[in-house]
Amino acid sequence: MNVFIIGITGGTGSRVAGLLAKQGDLVSGLYRRPEQIAALHAVGADGTLGDVSTISEQELASAASGSDVMVFAAGAGAHDQDKMIDAVDGDGVRKATAAARSAGISRLLLVSVFPEAWRERDMPKSFEHYMAAKKRADVDLVRSELDWVILRPSALTNDPGTGSVSLGLAEIHVDISRDDVAATIAALLHSVVRRRILEVTAGSTPIGSAVTALLN
Ligand SMILES: NC(=O)c1ccc[n+]([C@@H]2O[C@H](COP(=O)([O-])OP(=O)(O)OC[C@H]3O[C@@H](n4cnc5c(N)ncnc54)[C@H](OP(=O)(O)O)[C@@H]3O)[C@@H](O)[C@H]2O)c1
Repeated sequence: MNVFIIGITGGTGSRVAGLLAKQGDLVSGLYRRPEQIAALHAVGADGTLGDVSTISEQELASAASGSDVMVFAAGAGAHDQDKMIDAVDGDGVRKATAAARSAGISRLLLVSVFPEAWRERDMPKSFEHYMAAKKRADVDLVRSELDWVILRPSALTNDPGTGSVSLGLAEIHVDISRDDVAATIAALLHSVVRRRILEVTAGSTPIGSAVTALLN
């Protein structure tokens, strides 16, 4: 499988790239700084230099051309300026959707967020802006004709993966390691799961079984 990852240099995206490349998939993605290509090559991936906030839809389509699936794992970050959040987490997803369509890529997996994440806390305005942008991007992707999957992880940690998760249509927001999110993404990409919004958090079901269970 050929996979194109937007956010390939990030905590989650780089883990997805490494896992897929190890499994024999052809992996490439969009990276922002020239010095990042060495790390991509080191995990067996390749890339195109570009910024999702400024690249044109046509340039993105041409970078991803030939891929079977696009993964959007980029994020401006909940504490970034609102306009960067809009440009990456909002318009970036819409641009990726349009680019996938024009490159003939029918599948797109979007890494989103739990809509009710940290509702019990008093979060800064930028966080609320980020949550709203993520939600709008989910809605736009769902309304597209692509074979999308939206994966909403709970708060991400850099703890070592456990190989097990809790994955389903609705989960309680706790936290999860990026390793386990990446392994879940890799398993979903290799499955026939399509057009599902899924929530994932730490849990005790082996990732392969958790993905297979979605088909029952
Ligand atoms: N953090 C959490 O607790 C949490 C919880 C749930 C969901 N999420 C979502 O999960 C996804 C992955 O999160 P993460 O924390 O693993 O990511 P991360 O480590 O913060 O990495 C973000 C990635 O997005 C890229 N990026 C940012 N702005 C970009 C731009 N303008 N053009 C191109 N690439 C750009 C970064 O590139 P550079 O390497 O160049 O910076 C990096 O590859 C994100 O969509 C995030 O919103 C996060």
